[in-house]
Amino acid sequence: MSKRLEVKITTEEAKRQDEIISKLSQHIKDKGLTFFIGTFGCQMNALDSEKIEGVLTKLGYTKAASEKTADFLIYNTCCVRENAELKIFGKLGALKHRKKKQPNFMVALCGCMMQQDVVLKTLKQKYKFVDIIFGTYNIYKLPELLQTRIETGENIIDIWETHQEIVEDLPSIRKHQFKSCVNIMYGCNNFCTYCIVPYVRGRERSREVDDIYDQVKALVDDGVKEIMLLGQNVNSYGKNLATKPTFTDLLERLASIDGLKRIRFMTSHPKDFSDQLIDSIAKHDNICKGLHLPIQSGSTRILQQMNRGYTREEYLDLVAKIKKAIPSATLTTDIIVGFPGESDSDFADTLDVVTQIQYLSAFTFIYSKRTGTPAATMENQVDEDVIKARFNQLVAAVNTIAADFMAAQIGNTYEILLEDSSKNDATMLSGRTDTGILVHVKAPLNFIGEFVTVQITNSKTHYLVGEIKVSEDL
Ligand code: 5AD
Ligand code: SF4
Repeated sequence: MSKRLEVKITTEEAKRQDEIISKLSQHIKDKGLTFFIGTFGCQMNALDSEKIEGVLTKLGYTKAASEKTADFLIYNTCCVRENAELKIFGKLGALKHRKKKQPNFMVALCGCMMQQDVVLKTLKQKYKFVDIIFGTYNIYKLPELLQTRIETGENIIDIWETHQEIVEDLPSIRKHQFKSCVNIMYGCNNFCTYCIVPYVRGRERSREVDDIYDQVKALVDDGVKEIMLLGQNVNSYGKNLATKPTFTDLLERLASIDGLKRIRFMTSHPKDFSDQLIDSIAKHDNICKGLHLPIQSGSTRILQQMNRGYTREEYLDLVAKIKKAIPSATLTTDIIVGFPGESDSDFADTLDVVTQIQYLSAFTFIYSKRTGTPAATMENQVDEDVIKARFNQLVAAVNTIAADFMAAQIGNTYEILLEDSSKNDATMLSGRTDTGILVHVKAPLNFIGEFVTVQITNSKTHYLVGEIKVSEDL
């Protein structure tokens, strides 16, 4: 289902990379070299990996059958929680041996982890065999880094420190022909006290409305029906641009594109979710009603310690406003358990909010101490066993709510976009409602990418099962 999208290379820099690609690609093709990209973390990284795949394909590489057989292995890393970092170091440990046995085998690392000095230091000391290291904003330079690596035999480290420029229009390989993610902004200015993202991805920079519009229009002309707009805090879109467009202005512009059936976006920060945005979502059929609104904690005291910029009451008021204006809206969220100083009563506040709001689903995280963030040096770090018990309690509560919500959908009719085949049953496809509910339905493979109307017949904790009633576009 992968499809190549040719887009214009607009910057001088990108043109220079193109020249290098022409020089290198014959050699790579002749040798029949293969690549594998291991992607960790959020959807931004998934999108970056599509861009890396685009560049590598242009360079003449083909996709390896597995991580184990690839000639060029790239790990696109995440540093939001410590576990993700440990996983990478574990994988690198196992590669040392392979590197010795297979001298032409190359390893590259990129993504958020590489933007931390302490990680670079460890890599330089203990993992000298890594061939290329690059940061979050210089994927476009990969051909040049590869050329330098091949020509000099030296290991290459290229981390962009200024976080200033945005290089537009990289070639990319879309995973799905009918849906795509689009970056609308990079970086974050919020400095939530637990979070490392502002340190590794730099300050907020928004792309121009016209550039985003042109990209989305080109994607729609190429068969895309659903777009996911990505940013760390989409609600503060446009603040660094000369004409100060708001996120609502951008949405209104995109909603007018003929043939664009669904617009999703993430992540919304509750403190910046405007009334205009709520009106705009309510007004347009093609702006999806499934909203991801991270709460992080239900306790005002903890929210203050987290520097989130809203209270429990303000969050609840916002949700009430959304539900009033958009009755079909579903909400999903992120919650951190065990932030420093979280007491039993703070945690009870979180459980209470979760019960009140009835989230469709919640991503629950155990607090992870990130060196360099203000929370890492806060006193009253919570005991591990207490955190685990709270975490289990929260997951159980979230699952009960989700299961009840799903059961209440039986008999309803929804339009879903069929996205994938089921891993366990080849006769089943899965898709999502406009509100983001996962639905499994019996349908042939060639229905992938099509909208169908389904009646819900059964429910599980995290998905629904339905039967096709009427199919459109077929
Ligand atoms: N520990 C645990 N979870 C975190 N997140 C961000 N930083 C941390 C951390 N240090 C979670 C937040 C955020 C999501 C992407 O990851 O809930 O919304
Ligand atoms: Fe991290 Fe907060 Fe920015 Fe989200 S809004 S990326 S949690 S600092």
